[in-house]
Amino acid sequence: MRLTKFIALLVPNFLKASHNNRGRQESIKRFSFHSRHRMEVKEDIQKKYQHNSDLLDYFTSNSKTVVHKWHHYIPLYHRYFSPYRGLKIRFLEIGVSQGGSLQMWRNYFGDDAIIFGIDINPECMAFNGQAGQVRIGSQVDEHFLESVVAEMGGLDIVLDDGSHQMKHIPVTLNYLFPHLNYGGIYMIEDLHTAYWRKLGGGYRAKMNFFLY
Ligand SMILES: C[S@@+](CC[C@H](N)C(=O)[O-])C[C@H]1O[C@@H](n2cnc3c(N)ncnc32)[C@H](O)[C@@H]1O
Repeated sequence: MRLTKFIALLVPNFLKASHNNRGRQESIKRFSFHSRHRMEVKEDIQKKYQHNSDLLDYFTSNSKTVVHKWHHYIPLYHRYFSPYRGLKIRFLEIGVSQGGSLQMWRNYFGDDAIIFGIDINPECMAFNGQAGQVRIGSQVDEHFLESVVAEMGGLDIVLDDGSHQMKHIPVTLNYLFPHLNYGGIYMIEDLHTAYWRKLGGGYRAKMNFFLY
């Protein structure tokens, strides 16, 4: 057996997983923001998914604030969210980060949409009132969620881009899903994390969201 293979066998799986995950995180940043890749991303989406939309234009030309999303989500957002454009919908995103996605959603849904973002990080309050309302709290705090839903006056779309932890996703879903208006959408991002041990997932892991 080669020495490198032998050493790899000695490294615990959770360390290998976190090493691999680091690589993927870099890809997210690369595809979502850096201007030198803009056209590459746009062409990739156009060719692979035969998709063109102003959402794709916005995402690939945005150089102001980071929208922390995988670029192949764009056609899916457009497929499911486009019927709500221009309406007074109630849209909640879990995970504000640097505020870029709230700006994108404001641009996409229009001025009438009621857009809220929640985040556990108090620094996200800096984005409150820019493209939507920001409230600080945890996605697993039911009292907090209750107050946000009450303030919003209901929910048409929930986009969970928060902690991505297996122990959190079902709690938030269980609480928020019954509050969705008829015909609403509950979308959970980044479920590849269901296979990341550091977030409580893993192949056939008890908490893997796909087994929920
Ligand atoms: C991937 S970032 C959100 C990216 C943003 N939606 C975008 O597309 O640009 C995830 C965010 O979830 C927040 N977060 C982590 N745990 C959370 C929790 N328990 N409740 C609410 N937000 C949480 C983090 O502070 C972080 O800002």
